[in-house]
Amino acid sequence: MSEPSEQTVSVISILASLICISLGTVFWIYYRQSQSATSSTSSTATTATNATNATNATTTTRTTNKDGDLIDYPPTPPERHWLWKHGVALKGDGSSSHDVIFLQWMEKLQSKVVMFDVPVLGRMIVVGDITLARHVLQSKSKKSRTASAFPKSPTYQDVVPLIGKKSIVVMEGDEWAHQRKIFNPGFSPDYLKGIVTTIAQKCDRFLEFCETEDIASGLPTDLLARAIDLTSDVIAQVAFGEDWGYNSEEDNGGVQTLITLRDLTTMIGNEMRNPINRLNPYYKWRMSRLSVSLDQDMQRLVRRRLATIQKAQNNNNNNTDNTNDTNTNNTNDNNDNPKKDPKQPPQKDILSLTLSSVLKANEDDRKSRAAKDHPKNSNNNNTLKNQSSSEEVLFGPDDMECMTSQLKTFYFAGHDTTATTIAWAFWLLLRNPETLQRARDEVKESLGKEWVDAVTERKSHEQIIPGESTTYENLQKCQYLDAISRETLRLYPPAASTRYAADPDATYGNYKLGKSIVHLNFYAIQRDPDLWGKDANEFRPERFLGDEGRKKINSFAFLPFSKGSRDCIGKYFALLETKIALAALITRYDGSVVDADREVYTARLTSVPKNGCLVQLARRGNNSIHTAA
Ligand code: HEM
Repeated sequence: MSEPSEQTVSVISILASLICISLGTVFWIYYRQSQSATSSTSSTATTATNATNATNATTTTRTTNKDGDLIDYPPTPPERHWLWKHGVALKGDGSSSHDVIFLQWMEKLQSKVVMFDVPVLGRMIVVGDITLARHVLQSKSKKSRTASAFPKSPTYQDVVPLIGKKSIVVMEGDEWAHQRKIFNPGFSPDYLKGIVTTIAQKCDRFLEFCETEDIASGLPTDLLARAIDLTSDVIAQVAFGEDWGYNSEEDNGGVQTLITLRDLTTMIGNEMRNPINRLNPYYKWRMSRLSVSLDQDMQRLVRRRLATIQKAQNNNNNNTDNTNDTNTNNTNDNNDNPKKDPKQPPQKDILSLTLSSVLKANEDDRKSRAAKDHPKNSNNNNTLKNQSSSEEVLFGPDDMECMTSQLKTFYFAGHDTTATTIAWAFWLLLRNPETLQRARDEVKESLGKEWVDAVTERKSHEQIIPGESTTYENLQKCQYLDAISRETLRLYPPAASTRYAADPDATYGNYKLGKSIVHLNFYAIQRDPDLWGKDANEFRPERFLGDEGRKKINSFAFLPFSKGSRDCIGKYFALLETKIALAALITRYDGSVVDADREVYTARLTSVPKNGCLVQLARRGNNSIHTAA
């Protein structure tokens, strides 16, 4: 065997040293974290298990307030492994979401605020108490009016490969406020009115797949998977103006983009639950490949839109050479439509909003520089049409990164949790026949008999949902469907909010918070019998109706969209989409739930039904003859 070359030996030794240094660093960080967490956890473990031994606890965490009350970290599980910390206590049954396990510990420790020492992450305070939740969500930083006193937790960095470094979700302070202002118009009631027909059309495709792929072959429908196809199809059309669904005739690679995004979502979810994957180089490499591929898809999307704008502007320039309005707001596909109603406000899809904000900022910057260099020409309103059409002139790599971050964020946030809500809601309705009947009656009354007959009778290859009569105004009348969506979100909130307490001396009431990750457990709050009554675990949409309803509910008891300035920008969009999908599903199908007892609220990246809410669907009405046995 030939001797390895000198070069090979040095490469191997460099690699070996790098591995040793990395391992050393990892263990050092881990050791430091355990030391800092130990000093606090040991004292609180004592508090939880044996109050009389309180004096044995270290004094570092204990103090008293001005009334002489003891202030200490919240109760914590007594068993704590030297290496896995509370990892063993948090393991649970291996299926249920961590929020369910946190709630079980709250019950065991008889406290609505509990604390865990989580491997790798350190101290985590889990909040099921609405006064503390309100404090965390509403407190403003002393340094800035737009920043929260409890910024997003560093754990959000795990999601960056999916949503991008410059995502609105991870931004803070003025930078965040600027982005939020850009996107708000894309969620105004006026804008939502305009997307009802699009959602209805996409529901046609959704129903057709349930029919041709599942019912026709006698297979149960994985509601979550079907709903993901629906909601991703909707968000691509509404936010990007493109058809990315299956059967799309547009050549835009949308189906592959969804597959990439879902694979990446699964990998990040796995990594968060099994932090050991962070040390697996293959896992990391695969994740970065998917992330790069998603970025490239979004860059292509921006370029397609830019080409459309430039084409439209060139056409305009050829026709009327007297405009000097950049009009970058008007950047959606309607530019291709010369007959567009001039009274219609410019469409404000997410892609237009982000692109026009970047183009406008760069244009303003260019003008102010021109004004400084040549003050006499400062009124020269140069426009996109007069500039070089090359992308580099219009925006730099940072701008592109900001845009792709927002596009990835809206693509993910705009479909994932809404799909989960639709799946759970229909599953719950099939298990509650009286509620289902009341919902059907409401749909008939609000959307009309003709609407119901059309949805029930039409064949799958026809347009199933009558576009014209599916109006925003009629849907607004469906208050019971709205209550069903809210009750579903109460029982199965798909997302949580995790914040960071950066001040080592932070306290709230009798709790010391210290430097901690603060996890708001919406699941626990929304099932708290003190807030929702003895039937808190039951599905009863009536609690959101009439006198008994919404006014009586403490606004911090219902948090599926979070609260405060960082609440969900898409909440009304999500409720509207859920309503349309449910109206269509309950009108067209009957069905039964498959393996109800095996369905579990579990954590992936967001919290989802573990088995996808499996149901056996059957057509209603005269066409029920097509139903498989
Ligand atoms: C049922 C469906 C939905 C649920 C349960 C939900 C839930 C949430 C929650 C809990 C947050 C706060 C997260 C945090 O504090 O870290 C949030 C933020 C956000 N959501 Fe949603 N969401 C839904 C649908 C949507 C839709 C349809 C869109 C967009 C089309 C959207 C876009 C966003 C964005 C951009 C943020 C970040 C807002 C900011 O930081 O200013 N969401 N959502």
